[in-house]
Amino acid sequence: MHNRTHFFRYLCGMNNTITILGIESSCDDTSAAVLRNNVLLSNVIASQAVHIKYGGVIPELASRAHQQNIIPVVDTALKEAGIGIDEVDAIAFTRGPGLVGSLLVGVSFAKGLSIARNIPLVEVNHLQGHILSHLIDLPDRELPHPRFPFLCLLVSGGHTQIVRVDSPSEMEILGTTIDDAAGEAFDKCAKVMGLPYPGGPVIDRLAQEGDPKAFHFARPHVDGFNYSFSGLKTSFLYTLRDAVKENPNFIEEHKADLCASLQHTIIEILLKQLVRVSKETGIRDIAIAGGVSANSGLRNGIVAEGKKRGWRTFLPEFKFTTDNAAMIAMSGYHRYQKGEFSSLDIAPVARLEELL
Ligand code: KG4
Ligand code: ZN
Repeated sequence: MHNRTHFFRYLCGMNNTITILGIESSCDDTSAAVLRNNVLLSNVIASQAVHIKYGGVIPELASRAHQQNIIPVVDTALKEAGIGIDEVDAIAFTRGPGLVGSLLVGVSFAKGLSIARNIPLVEVNHLQGHILSHLIDLPDRELPHPRFPFLCLLVSGGHTQIVRVDSPSEMEILGTTIDDAAGEAFDKCAKVMGLPYPGGPVIDRLAQEGDPKAFHFARPHVDGFNYSFSGLKTSFLYTLRDAVKENPNFIEEHKADLCASLQHTIIEILLKQLVRVSKETGIRDIAIAGGVSANSGLRNGIVAEGKKRGWRTFLPEFKFTTDNAAMIAMSGYHRYQKGEFSSLDIAPVARLEELL
C-alpha cells in the first residue's frame, strides 16, 4: 500500500464506511461498480455485441472492446453512485481466471488509477466474486444471505463447481467438471441447433414451450462429486445428426422439445451431485451463482429440490448472475478488511490453478 492517508485510515479503523470501486473485465463484459460496505451504490455493465456474429467470444475483439469501454464504464459507475474518486478506499479488480487479453485491460486500468490517485489495489478471484455476490445488499432492500458454511453451485460458461463456503475467504471446491462447463454444454448444443450465441438464454426461452421428457440424452457416470458434460453433448449431436438424415426439417420441427429435454438433462445432472454433497456434508444452505444460475429451469428445480429436502435456497438477483463488478467489489471489500492488498507488479492469470 503506497498511500499514507489510505494506510492510516485502514490501520486506525477510523474508516467505518469502506468504499470499494470494483472492476471486472475477465471475458466479454466490461463492468464497474461502487460498493459502500456491503451496500451496492452502482453496477454498470457494457456487454459486447461484437461476438454474436462469430458464434463465440473472440479474445482479441473482447480485449479491444474493453479498452473502448473501461473509462466510460468506470466514470458512469462513480457518477451513478454519486461519489468522487477521492472517496474510494480501494480498487478491487478481477485478476483471473479469464481471457488474459481481457483481464489485462482491467488490471492495467486499475493499476493506472491506483498510481494516479494513490488508491490501494485489491485483487479478486472471479469465481469467489460470483459466490460472494450472495452477500450484497441494495440501498433500498436487504437481500437474503446464506449462513456459513453454505454450498454454492457455481455454473458459468467456463466453470461448473460445487464449492463449500466457510467464510468470505475460506472456500473449498468439492466437485468440478472434468470436461465441459454447464454453460458450455448449453452454448455448444445451441450451436448444433443453429441458435445464436450465447445459446443458454435462447434455450431457456424455447424450453418453456417444449416437453422436457420428449428426448432422452446420455447422463454421465463420474467419480466423487465431479461433473461431466461432454457425453451429453455427443449424445445430443448424434441424436440430431441421425434424425436430420431422416428428416432435414427435424431440428426446426422439434426445437422446443429438444431445448426442453436438453435443459432438463443438464439440470438433473447438476442437482444430482448437489444433493449428494449436501447429504454428505450435512450443509443445507444452498446457493447458485454464475451465468447459468439465470436459467429459469435451474432456479425452479433448485427451489423444488430444496422444499423436498429442507434446504434454504438462495437464488441470485438476475443482475448478479452474469459477469458484473458488484461481486468483485464485494469480494474486494472482504479482502480489504483483512488487509490483503496487491502490489503494482501484479499480473493477470488465465487459469484458476494459478490463483490458488
Ligand atoms: O458467468 P458468465 O456470465 O461468464 C463466465 O464467467 O463464463 O456465464 C456465461 C454463461 C454462458 O454459457 C451462457 O450461455 C450462460 O451463462 N447463460 C445461461 C443463461 N443465461 C446465461 N444458460 C442457461 N440459461 C440461461 N438463462
Ligand atoms: Zn463469470
